[in-house]
Amino acid sequence: MELDRGYLIALEGIDGTGKTTQGTLLGDYLEQCGLPVVRLREPTQGPWGQKIRKILTEGRGGITPDEELQWFLNDRKEDVEQNIRPALDANKVVVIDRYYYSTAAYQGALGFDPQKICADNEAFAPRPDRVLIFSGSLETSFERIAQGRDGFSSFEKKEYLKKVHAIFDSFEGPHIRRIDSDGSVDAVHRQVAAVADDLLGIRRAR
Ligand code: TYD
Repeated sequence: MELDRGYLIALEGIDGTGKTTQGTLLGDYLEQCGLPVVRLREPTQGPWGQKIRKILTEGRGGITPDEELQWFLNDRKEDVEQNIRPALDANKVVVIDRYYYSTAAYQGALGFDPQKICADNEAFAPRPDRVLIFSGSLETSFERIAQGRDGFSSFEKKEYLKKVHAIFDSFEGPHIRRIDSDGSVDAVHRQVAAVADDLLGIRRAR
């Protein structure tokens, strides 16, 4: 299926909401529909993303909040130039696991103004056609983090994540869709697929 333009779908939410699993399922679903899909994730595997991952495992000790915010912006600028814009220009569907709403929520929870972070990002980063905000009970997310491969990282302190969660809940706009992340993998996927169907004009037997 040929698209008339590129589309950008961002998956957002706190850790433990199942976003990454759902991003994979969404990419698979769109490919089955015959659409050209590019799957991305931030932080990236690039030089800034690698620096970020180091503080995720080793802690924020050595850097200031301003530097942390700047590192995420640097990583995103590279991602926009090298991956996001080229894919959108080639009329592909970009499914990205975390984007600038994560910066607004996580670095916002450090004390920066979330709205200003969004505005600063929108100066260089394309606005998503849809932002899927995965949200459910904090207890469910905490259990999933605890049971996950890596356990809690240095960004996953409960009090901090509560603040991040509240900022994610505060975002509003015509491109935002909330996904109830507490259900089964299938139930959540149905919500996600319905958003994509509507955005991309996919018709299927129900
Ligand atoms: P995550 O998607 O959880 O990566 P992984 O699957 O490798 O654990 O992202 C890592 C962390 O980075 C996560 O706790 C959220 C945080 N983060 C920010 O604080 N700001 C940002 O702008 C982004 C993209 C992520």
